[in-house]
Amino acid sequence: MKAAVTRQPGPPEVIQVKDKPIPEVKEGWVLIKVKAFGLNRSELFTRRGDSPNVKFPLVQGIECVGTIAQDPSGSYPIGQKVAAIMGGMGRFFNGGYAEYTLVPLEIVFPFFSELSWHILGAIPEMFQTVSGSLHQALEIEPGETLVIRGGTSSIGMLACQLAKVKGLTVISTTRNPDKRETLLKNKADHVLIDTGEVSMALKKVFPDGVNKVLELIGTRTLKDSLKCISQRGTVCMTGILGNEWTMHEFTPMGDIPSLGRLTVYMGESKNLSKSLLQDFINEVEKGTVQLNIDKVITIDKVAEGHQYMEDNKAKGKIVVVL
Ligand SMILES: NC(=O)c1ccc[n+]([C@@H]2O[C@H](COP(=O)([O-])OP(=O)(O)OC[C@H]3O[C@@H](n4cnc5c(N)ncnc54)[C@H](OP(=O)(O)O)[C@@H]3O)[C@@H](O)[C@H]2O)c1
Repeated sequence: MKAAVTRQPGPPEVIQVKDKPIPEVKEGWVLIKVKAFGLNRSELFTRRGDSPNVKFPLVQGIECVGTIAQDPSGSYPIGQKVAAIMGGMGRFFNGGYAEYTLVPLEIVFPFFSELSWHILGAIPEMFQTVSGSLHQALEIEPGETLVIRGGTSSIGMLACQLAKVKGLTVISTTRNPDKRETLLKNKADHVLIDTGEVSMALKKVFPDGVNKVLELIGTRTLKDSLKCISQRGTVCMTGILGNEWTMHEFTPMGDIPSLGRLTVYMGESKNLSKSLLQDFINEVEKGTVQLNIDKVITIDKVAEGHQYMEDNKAKGKIVVVL
């Protein structure tokens, strides 16, 4: 089979397409014939060698969609459409950047859909992250106000649509004023230009602050996001687009407002219900939710895809089809 192999930690060029044997199935694992996979920011960190305990060479890819090629447990028929997500995929065992991938049964999610593979390939990890952050971490409710910090990211764009379907008022941020229209077209009610600080501008429109903040930039803007919440408001840190894992000089009694709440969402396949994934795919089929796919590429172009993401040129998901 063809696989995009990350030979060692380094720049995008360390990813090279090679011939590899198709993995041999074993008890408790299923072999998936990969049809498509999305590229993810966390895969940039893994590629650079920043994910702890990861060994190279490695077939990366924390998600994929495809069909069951072999399942010794008999849980799924050959040809069943499935998604596989997280659970160590593409980190502690070879992942989705290949024509076939062998994954544990518990991270397999079956679905039925006639959508094309390039659309299905954009779904699993994006949906898992957005649904987990909004519903489980932030516990969003109709009528609430939500700031999405890093609004132009794939996660941010989808979060905006799901929050609007649920009846929230959404304020999306971008550093780039040229992307304002993109955010408004994606149904954001307000757009704020992020200079590293948006709390002052926000308070001009919402003097008491907002109920919820989805923080996708991370530790660089977290303190300012905590200034955006109203009493008993919640900030959920889900992303680190700002490329900084550790926060320096954080003073809980001071940086978190009194009664304010700070949480994180780290995304595990166990957080995703199988029926919720099918429901979401149905919404995409009906057109209620539109995915933002920036580029569809082939497996030979995975390294270029990483570079494109690293250069922040993507205005949505990059999907690789096989
Ligand atoms: N917790 C989880 O389970 C989970 C799962 C998946 C992803 N994530 C995280 O969620 C975040 C979003 O992922 P994604 O794939 O949707 O990202 P993406 O689509 O690649 O995001 C691209 C956007 O990020 C913004 N950006 C890039 N560098 C930035 C910086 N230094 N400071 C501020 N903004 C910056 C740019 O926005 P502007 O130019 O418009 O400002 C750009 O349009 C990532 O941090 C990712 O690791 C978390």
